[in-house]
Parts: sequence; structure tokens; C-alpha cells
Amino acid sequence: NVALRRATPPPDGAFRPPVRSPRSREGTAMHAALIAATAALGGLLFGYDTGVISGALLFLRDAFHLSPLMQGVVTSIALLGAAVGAGFAGSLSDRYGRRPLILVTALIFVVGSLVSAVATALWVLLAGRLLVGLGIGVSSMLAPLYLAETAPAESRGAMVSLNQLMITTGILVSYLIGYGFAAGGDWRWMLGLGALPGLVLAGGMLALPESPRWLAGHGHLADARRALQALRGTGETARAIEAELDGIEADIAREAKGRGRTSLSDPALRMPLVVGVGLAVFQQVTGINTVIYFAPTIFQAAGLSSASASILATAGVGAVNVAMTLVAIRLIDRVGRRVLLLVGLAGMAASLVVLGGAFLLGAGGALGWVTAASLTAYVGFFAIGLGPVFWLLISEIFPTAARGRCMGVATVANWGFNLVVALTFLDLVDGIGRPATFFLYAALTVLGFVFTLRLVPETKGRGLEDMEAAWAERRR
Ligand code: GLC
Repeated sequence: NVALRRATPPPDGAFRPPVRSPRSREGTAMHAALIAATAALGGLLFGYDTGVISGALLFLRDAFHLSPLMQGVVTSIALLGAAVGAGFAGSLSDRYGRRPLILVTALIFVVGSLVSAVATALWVLLAGRLLVGLGIGVSSMLAPLYLAETAPAESRGAMVSLNQLMITTGILVSYLIGYGFAAGGDWRWMLGLGALPGLVLAGGMLALPESPRWLAGHGHLADARRALQALRGTGETARAIEAELDGIEADIAREAKGRGRTSLSDPALRMPLVVGVGLAVFQQVTGINTVIYFAPTIFQAAGLSSASASILATAGVGAVNVAMTLVAIRLIDRVGRRVLLLVGLAGMAASLVVLGGAFLLGAGGALGWVTAASLTAYVGFFAIGLGPVFWLLISEIFPTAARGRCMGVATVANWGFNLVVALTFLDLVDGIGRPATFFLYAALTVLGFVFTLRLVPETKGRGLEDMEAAWAERRR
């Protein structure tokens, strides 16, 4: 499959570092950050649209006379759409390019948000949310992919993790907007506001170039050069651009000689897929979205009975999620991915044990605040490890020729298990009780720790094409 093989990106570590003055280097960094921030708007939509439903649901329930089952359907139909969207995104973007697909996705967000906001019949609401879900799924894998393909190797971790920063910001904003509109019950505004960042993303992507690696892979060398110039900004000399382009071309030539993997059943893909899908599953089955989707309910069960206390606690959780993601971004290209994952998983497991223990002892009074503290700590540890590192690693660990499709597989698994956890959480709590539910997530977190310790390679600072060496090192 030549088209696919050539569509994927060559190494970004394979070029000589350009000689630049400090001032121009600063300009280039600003330029790169601006581009990354625009591309990461997909993350803002992801976060906003997954977070907003919990607040809106209270009013949708009354407006559409929803049974508990239908409340579940309204909540999870976007997750279903996301799993489907992620399934198509890889091969579509290999074929048509990253940029057009991001543009189309932005428009899907706009249409989906507006349709849900004006819905007067349930099926229209469901259709709108399904559309929004499709957009979330596509952009959840395309934003990291585009960022990884356009970032220089030494800052790739921070650039790609901007996407997770936007996801957490979107969640926080959705909480705040949810509470802002709650008094008036304005669910139409809550759902409709998602159209705004969609418009900004579409406008921004019109100004951003196609991934130079995708262009070069499709034989559009002149366009690839122009795209690189636009991406690297004025701080970059023409010579440095040529050097980077040479690196990309050399790589495409090497790929064409058959080093590229094209079939998902290729034995060389087995371990990367096990790691990518394994991390996808662990990111979800360790329970993060039970907190993101149900935090106020959990806090009330813990005895923070006043509405304002549980609102405060929920906003606190959202803010810690953002703050700790910022910490991760600062560290990720320095201490590496593995350390963050391991520290994060260990902290999550410990917090979950304390949380389960607090629920075991009862609710109310001081225990309510122990619950709030351990829940917040749990989210903080997720945010420095599993949150950003999963999305980063799946943009890095796969060989170039199969990157789009392999990321698609891992992303579908992520959304699939997100759905499973969202659908089972309340029943689990009913069936085995809160303490046992959180102990179960703790046990799964310990499993995730062992999995990471044994199987996950370090990818810090490596060129994207260099990953086979990383796998070989892990085997030793
Ligand atoms: C990650 C997860 C997502 C979760 C978010 C919370 O992006 O993939 O499911 O809602 O983190 O910050």
C-alpha cells in the first residue's frame, strides 16, 4: 500500500539543528506555540463537550422527560460517536491529509452543537450529540497526530501535551459555564456554546499549513517546503529548512525501500499495539471519568451536602486537573514519559485506597473533606501521568508507516472503555458499594503500574522514526 506508506511522516530528529540567534529562537518558539495552541483547540472542544453534559443533564431530564435509561443514552451517545469517529480518522487523514480532516471536524462540532442547542425533539438532541461525539473522536487522535508531525523532536512532548492541557481547560470551562447557566436552567446555551471554539478552530486551521511530512509523503515537495517555512517562522534560516526537508525526504526514500510496516498483523507492530491499546484501556478503567462526569454526585455522597460545597469541590478538581497538566508539560521533555507515568500511577493508586477507605468509614464531617482531598489528589496524579502521557505516547510509539491506523486502534479502545466505565459506574456503586468500587479501580491502577514498568519504552527526545531502537532497548 504505497499511498498509505508514503502518507506518513518521516523522522523529525533527522536534521541538523539550525544555527540561530537567541532572539530569533525566541520568536520561533512563540510562533510554534501559537500554531500548537490553535491545533490544540480540538482538545478544548473535546474537554468542553464531554464535560458540559453533566451540568446540562439535570435540565435535559425535565425538558425531555428522560427516564434513567435515556439519561444514560443522552450522556453516552457522544462517547459512542467518538469511538466511531476515531475509527475512521486514521485512514481518512492518511488519504486526504490532516488539515482538511481537522477543518471538516471543526465544522461538525459547530453543526452538532447548534443542532443540540435548538433541539425540541429527543431524536434531534441525540443526533446533535452523536455529531459532536464524532467530532470529538476524530479530533482526539488528529490533534496529537498533527502536533507530533509538526513539532521539533526536543519539544514534542510539551507540544503534543498542549492538547491535553486544552482538554482539561475545556472540562473546567464547561463546569464553570454549567454553574453559570444553572440558575436559569439554560441548557441550550450550555450545549450551543461549543460552536464557538469550533468556529475558531476552523478559522485557525485555514491559516495553518498541512503537515509537511504528509505533503512530502504525497510527492508535494514544494508545498512541503512552504509548509515548513510557515511552521518554523522567520527565526529559521532557509538552510535549516532545506536540512529538515532533506531529512524528511531521506526518510521517505528509506520507507519506500520496504522498511515500513503496512499491515496491522505485522509482528513488529505487536508490542507497540499491546502498549498503545494497554495504556488506552488503563487510562479509562482506572476510573478518571467517573470523577469528571459524576464529581458533584460523589461529593454529595461523601457528605458535602450543601450545593455550594460540592460545586466548590468540583471546580477545585477541574482546576487541579489543569494545573497538574501544566506541571507535566514542564517536565515531560526533561524527566521523560516513563517517570511521569509511574509516579502518576503510584499516586493514583494510593489516593484511591484512601478514598475507598474514607467511604468505608462513613460519610460526613471531617471524612467528607478527606474524600474531597483524596479525590483531588487522585485527579492531580492522573494529570501528571496517564492523562497527557497516553495521548503523547500513541503519537510516538508506532512506526511511521502504520501510525495513523495504529493510533486509530488505540483511540477507539480508549473511547470504548470510556463508554464501558461511564455505563457501569452507577451500577457498580449500587451493586458492590462505593468503597469496593474505588478499591477495584485501585487494583486496576496497580496493574497499570506493573504494565508500565515492564512494557512501556521511553521516547523522550527521539526522532519519530527512531522508535524501533527504543523497542529493541526495551527487549534487552
Ligand atoms: C484524558 C482522557 C479523558 C479524560 C481527561 C480528563 O484526556 O482521555 O477521557 O476525560 O483526560 O482530564
